Amino acid sequence: MPDCPVHPPLLAWYASHARDLPWRRRDASAWHVLVSEMMLQQTPVARVLPVYDAWVARWPTPGALAGDRPGEAVRRWGRLGYPRRALRLHEAAKVIDTLHGGEVPRDPFALRSLPGVGDYTAAAVLAFAYRRRVAVLDTNVRRVLGRVQRGVALPPPTVTTMERSFAEESLPDDPEAAAVWSVAVMELGALVCTARAPACPRCPVASSCAWRAAGRPRPLDPRTKAQAYAGSDRQCRGRILQAVRDADAPLTEPTLAVTWEDTAQRHRALASLLADGLVVQVGDGLFDLP
Ligand code: ADE
Repeated sequence: MPDCPVHPPLLAWYASHARDLPWRRRDASAWHVLVSEMMLQQTPVARVLPVYDAWVARWPTPGALAGDRPGEAVRRWGRLGYPRRALRLHEAAKVIDTLHGGEVPRDPFALRSLPGVGDYTAAAVLAFAYRRRVAVLDTNVRRVLGRVQRGVALPPPTVTTMERSFAEESLPDDPEAAAVWSVAVMELGALVCTARAPACPRCPVASSCAWRAAGRPRPLDPRTKAQAYAGSDRQCRGRILQAVRDADAPLTEPTLAVTWEDTAQRHRALASLLADGLVVQVGDGLFDLP
């Protein structure tokens, strides 16, 4: 859609407001993009940056990660949360190394079948690393396009066919321009058109926004609050994993008691970490990273 009125002001805004993030630089490889996108799922940029830098310095290629222990990947995931992502990246690195000659695949189906790579991550790698004309629908992009094009406050829980076709139609024809457009929409969603406090006076496309023109209607179905983290199984898993990660030697179950008071919940969390392969039993009642 080359004559879309939203393109020039948004691209001009992006040129002067974009954050300089390492995975957006022209020298970022497809591997760098894949690592960053896996880390950025449900995790803010500021928390990702130091972990990302350390990861790509230690493992500059998929082959380098594939040759290291999965436990090292979990250790260096630090406190990013959702640590199964570290194991999936390690598995993906092994598949890339053995089946794809060490190069992140360019084929959408091969990419999509890598462990941990869903529709969004595959599209992001194709667009940002391989500069293909593909719609990249993360939550920020979906919110911005939903507001600007369709006047809805928040997008539906999962991507709809209509959303995808609207997004594909709004991509510039030129693949390189389409990639810049996608990251610009993403950045607008992250910095201006946020979920809770949209800053319309600072928005470069406010005059074309259907949601603003309609008086910024509230979401039809206000989202229920995300499950509280404090006291949750997820927090308990995080504490145990941190203790195992920080220890110089395998830990016993009683040592883990200091991480969490509720014994039943601690046992449940440890069992789920073992089931996920994030922690392994290495002897009688001894636990370590894989
Ligand atoms: N640039 C490219 N992908 C990104 C993402 N997922 N979050 C923030 N910036 C990005």
